Amino acid sequence: MKVLVTGGAGYIGSHTCLALREAGHTPVILDSLVNGRPEYTQGYIFYQGDIADEALLNRIFQEQGPLDCCIHFAARIVVPESVQNPYLYYHENVAKSLELFRILDSLGMKRIIFSSSASIYGSVQGDDYAVTEDAPKDPSSPYARTKLMMEMVLEDTSRAMGFKGIALRYFNPIGADPQMRVGPYDPNPTHVLGTMVTCALTGRPFNVTGTDWPTRDGSGIRDYLHVWDLAKAHVAAVEHFDSAFEKMGGDFLPINLGSGNGCTVFELANAFNAVYSRLKGKTLTIGTAPARPGDVAGAYAKPDRAAELLEWKTHLTIEEAIEHALIWTEVERVKKLGY
Ligand SMILES: NC(=O)c1ccc[n+]([C@@H]2O[C@H](COP(=O)([O-])OP(=O)(O)OC[C@H]3O[C@@H](n4cnc5c(N)ncnc54)[C@H](O)[C@@H]3O)[C@@H](O)[C@H]2O)c1
Repeated sequence: MKVLVTGGAGYIGSHTCLALREAGHTPVILDSLVNGRPEYTQGYIFYQGDIADEALLNRIFQEQGPLDCCIHFAARIVVPESVQNPYLYYHENVAKSLELFRILDSLGMKRIIFSSSASIYGSVQGDDYAVTEDAPKDPSSPYARTKLMMEMVLEDTSRAMGFKGIALRYFNPIGADPQMRVGPYDPNPTHVLGTMVTCALTGRPFNVTGTDWPTRDGSGIRDYLHVWDLAKAHVAAVEHFDSAFEKMGGDFLPINLGSGNGCTVFELANAFNAVYSRLKGKTLTIGTAPARPGDVAGAYAKPDRAAELLEWKTHLTIEEAIEHALIWTEVERVKKLGY
């Protein structure tokens, strides 16, 4: 299939483009390069521009002929930045995505896959942190609210317009391409594994923020999944798009993408140290600090719907994700410094 991939130069988009190509599909990347990496677009059909640029989208469809599906990754993604500058986030993630959906509909697009997030779920009550797609929603940042808003927009517009929409709710993607072709690229990562790698390389301690949550060891609980597994979920979503709706009916389908296993931050830090000491003979110093404003105990996925409708589940382990992230950092350092 020929797939329009917005944000294909970014972290998850670049892994997905590789996975799509390996599965015999043709990605067509649309990315403004406001983030992402230009080299991740090399070898692909690539258009540099904005998702709300109607003239550009018209040109893409004219030049590329009918496109079978759109995977819409492009968005701003930094939670603290969304708190400081909510206008930017509502403008980029909501207003522009709304325009994109309208333009895609006018061009006859029938299938839209939207990158959503587990951050739309509210705090879990009780001691089972697993959430199904129907769990209560209560996004705690402007970023997370843009994701929930766009799910609502997708649900309403898909019902009224000519397309169907799948919202893939990612839990916590980590790691890098096992073959080291692409990987995380943010020099100042805010996500947990990127922070651990930075702390390990600089010798700074890694602080587990929040240690009195009602979890098994007091730290927050998450559902870490390898980004390569996540990339393959998108291939599965493209390939099973029509059959999923044949089974479920309707025009809009939210689907959790996670491993189904909760992992606390202390457990992740211990796994990091096991891998880091095996690879480098060193360990990360683990400290503790109070929870930050807006932190939550967390949740992990009940991924049954993904298994049933997309025939997808995770295969790679947290240890493999940590190892690939560490090797990727080394590869990047050698590329930059030449040794
Ligand atoms: N990384 C995560 O942990 C995570 C978790 C849940 C959901 N998501 C969602 O997955 C998607 C991809 O995330 P990522 O981590 O790969 O982010 P990323 O920043 O690496 O990639 C986003 C890409 O979109 C492009 N882009 C942004 N605004 C654009 C615009 N207006 N027009 C064209 N291109 C634009 C950027 O240049 C970048 O290449 C996002 O929608 C994000 O909200 C990410």
